[in-house]
Amino acid sequence: MKQIHFGVFEVAGPQVGGTLSWSHPRSDSLRYHELDLWIGMAKLLDRAGFDFLFFADGFGYPTIAGDLPEMAARGGINFPGIDPAVMIPTLARETERLGFVVTSSTGLDHPLQTARRFATLDHLTDGRIGWNIVTGASQNTIAELFGHGTMRSHDARYDQADEYVDLAMTFWEGSWEDDAFRGDREAGVLADRDKIHRVEFEGEHFRSSGYFTVTPSKQRTPVLFQAGTSARGRAYAARNAECVFVQGTTIPHTKANVADIRAKAAENGRDPQSIKILVGLTVVVAPTSEEAQALRKSFDDLQTDEVVSVLYAGNTGIDLLALDPDRDLTQLQDDGGPVGQMGQTNIERFLPKDGSAAPTVREILDDLRGKGTRGLQLTGSTTEVADALEHLVDETDLDGFLLEPLFGTADLEDFATLVVPELRRRGRMPAEAATGSLREQMLERPGPHLSEDHRGHAFRVTPAQEAIAG
Ligand SMILES: Cc1cc2nc3c(=O)[nH]c(=O)nc-3n(C[C@H](O)[C@H](O)[C@H](O)COP(=O)(O)O)c2cc1C
Repeated sequence: MKQIHFGVFEVAGPQVGGTLSWSHPRSDSLRYHELDLWIGMAKLLDRAGFDFLFFADGFGYPTIAGDLPEMAARGGINFPGIDPAVMIPTLARETERLGFVVTSSTGLDHPLQTARRFATLDHLTDGRIGWNIVTGASQNTIAELFGHGTMRSHDARYDQADEYVDLAMTFWEGSWEDDAFRGDREAGVLADRDKIHRVEFEGEHFRSSGYFTVTPSKQRTPVLFQAGTSARGRAYAARNAECVFVQGTTIPHTKANVADIRAKAAENGRDPQSIKILVGLTVVVAPTSEEAQALRKSFDDLQTDEVVSVLYAGNTGIDLLALDPDRDLTQLQDDGGPVGQMGQTNIERFLPKDGSAAPTVREILDDLRGKGTRGLQLTGSTTEVADALEHLVDETDLDGFLLEPLFGTADLEDFATLVVPELRRRGRMPAEAATGSLREQMLERPGPHLSEDHRGHAFRVTPAQEAIAG
């Protein structure tokens, strides 16, 4: 029977998933810049046996017609926010075993900066860090903010991202041998010079020549997550990711994406089951079905077309409210412009591949209301939710879920007290939560390092390789 992994999807901002919830009395997310909010949540997840707390992140914000719409500010739709990476060491110190995954884009700084930041986080969390690799949302605002002028095309961003991780992995795996750092007071040797290797990297997008100044951390390479479910994104995941966060809105769509990522991983010489694939999931659970439905309704009542359109424009460049409500997106794709270059996942989901009619703009607005960028949705009693989770995993070959709370800590508390014990009873979660590095916990591996069939393993310097090299 397949075990189910759980992470929690959060953002260090007023709310998750591009929906409106901060103004609801149950929500605590207005306190997003208070460390105590995150400490409380991390401790709860740690105790309850969740695998990790995940932070989406980015510099961008939604725009309509090139500017920040009034609704983004009034409603707090993917705006504003703070840098989540900074609080991770505090959260790690307050917890025993919970992993932390931080999103960082491959489109902005040099891979050396990312390699140094994550190696530092891996040291400070004692091997409990993961990197969610994204090519970056809101590319148009990022281009403006950073003064880049134009934005790079969608697939070219993934080509650059391939090279980006190669160089980062060269720093993590290929610069210091395991025993290079000695800290030997008696001998007066801090580090063994012969075991520290020069990185020489000459790529199309990045170059580097020199030494990495951070000693190997417990995992060396952070657990590599990836989010971005376009065809190019899935190919990228199959090559590089150890855990994939897919966006799925139906069981068949999710099942197809999972199968595709596993098949592509096998083509890359990897064990397809070694990749853990999780889908975003909003759960509203209560002791009775009626209570859960009522809670869900109080959230749905806050959502409007305006909220949906702001979020969708930020993800795709498409302003749904400016379009003929009877059109569909097939026609739009041929119009050129930024459409499709910002992110294809949220366009592709409304372009059916099975020959059925594509939904109209009006239908898309109705479909997205209350969903935002959220994945699957589940509302019910403990038994209903547990049954549905088992069914989802068995039907789709998923490894688990990234819970996308509506109201922050209160939702996670309900899940921890109602659903977790039920899944334990059914043998779907371990009776006692796993411990050790995030890689050992999530990938059920015997050690904290990348597996031999991951391409990053080849970047590793070993004394034997050096001897052969001359
Ligand atoms: C499930 C999911 C989560 C994402 N999370 C982030 C994020 O936290 N920060 C970010 O800049 N981009 C995020 N992205 C967007 C990706 O960076 C990517 O730019 C965009 O989705 C385009 O790639 P795609 O067409 O392969 O989806 C996410 C995308 C998906 C599908």
